[in-house]
Amino acid sequence: MRLVEITDLTVSFPQADGVVQAVRGASFHVDEGESVGIVGESGSGKSVTCMAALRLLRQPPAKIAAKVMRLDGIDMLAADRKTLSGVRGRVAAMVFQDPMTAFDPVYTIGAQIVETIRAHREVSKADARREAEGLLAKVEIRTPAAVLDSYPHQLSGGMMQRAMIAMALSCQPRILIADEPTTALDVTVQAQILQLIKGLQDELGMGLVMVTHDLGVIAETVDRVVVMYGGRVMEEAPVAAIFDEAKHPYTRALMASMPGQVGGRRRLTEIPGSSPNPADPPMGCPFHPRCSEADARCGHEIPPVVVTGEASRAACWRLT
Ligand SMILES: Nc1ncnc2c1ncn2[C@@H]1O[C@H](COP(=O)(O)OP(=O)(O)OP(=O)(O)O)[C@@H](O)[C@H]1O
Ligand SMILES: [Mg+2]
Repeated sequence: MRLVEITDLTVSFPQADGVVQAVRGASFHVDEGESVGIVGESGSGKSVTCMAALRLLRQPPAKIAAKVMRLDGIDMLAADRKTLSGVRGRVAAMVFQDPMTAFDPVYTIGAQIVETIRAHREVSKADARREAEGLLAKVEIRTPAAVLDSYPHQLSGGMMQRAMIAMALSCQPRILIADEPTTALDVTVQAQILQLIKGLQDELGMGLVMVTHDLGVIAETVDRVVVMYGGRVMEEAPVAAIFDEAKHPYTRALMASMPGQVGGRRRLTEIPGSSPNPADPPMGCPFHPRCSEADARCGHEIPPVVVTGEASRAACWRLT
């Protein structure tokens, strides 16, 4: 069963002095029980892609177009308001990069989780509250009752992140989209939360989209990796192939620059040059100005997507 199906997604934000092309023709999918990582430098379009898939971007200003954009078979482009509110939470839930986005500052955490649970299932307030307490305990919050009665601004970033994960999991979604879900947490808690997400994923057959900068998170939690740059998917491959035999020069540069413990090595370098300006992207391959392997063609024509393995593809002229 295909839980996420996105083909040729473009997202742009018209501005007074031009158009920000945040996503420029991205495609990927997630099957039932599968965990897919989205990686790429800051500004590559990862968050915008996730928000667009859930139709969480205000339109206007955002302009969203795609050949296909389905979540659990539901056409998210054609969905009306009622369908969308049914989808969010129950079909797909999101853990936001900024936890403040997830919560309304004027209600307690408890009121918001209880409401989310009761929006999709017929349970009493008391039962929903008990469930919420259980979920907070599951994400390693030691004083769940006190946190339920707190307002968002009373919690630390780490607590908020955990409460948000609990809220996202409260409706047992078919798809969990997690955007840097553990960045505000210390390493041990991070590992616990990732294990919790993985465990629930196996238990519920949930599809997982994990946006992360962390090689360790990728190595431990995802089956397949989608590499984004300049609003495009540069490469997609099973996680082992991304680590051991990345085909795209950008993937190799990114892997060499990302923090994380892989095979006992810790590497921290930077890819020389800077990311493309989304309001004025370069012609051809967006990576060509920084690519040591680029030739004239790379600067003029957008590279085709080349199948590089059973579940792998890359967009690079070098592979044609
Ligand atoms: N509402 C908006 N209006 C205008 N431009 C936007 C808007 N939201 C995002 N962008 C731009 O779209 C591009 C992609 O942003 P996005 O947040 O998806 O990046 P990202 O890959 O998630 O980066 P990070 O790793 O820093 O979270 C960026 O250039 C960003 O400035
Ligand atoms: Mg982001």
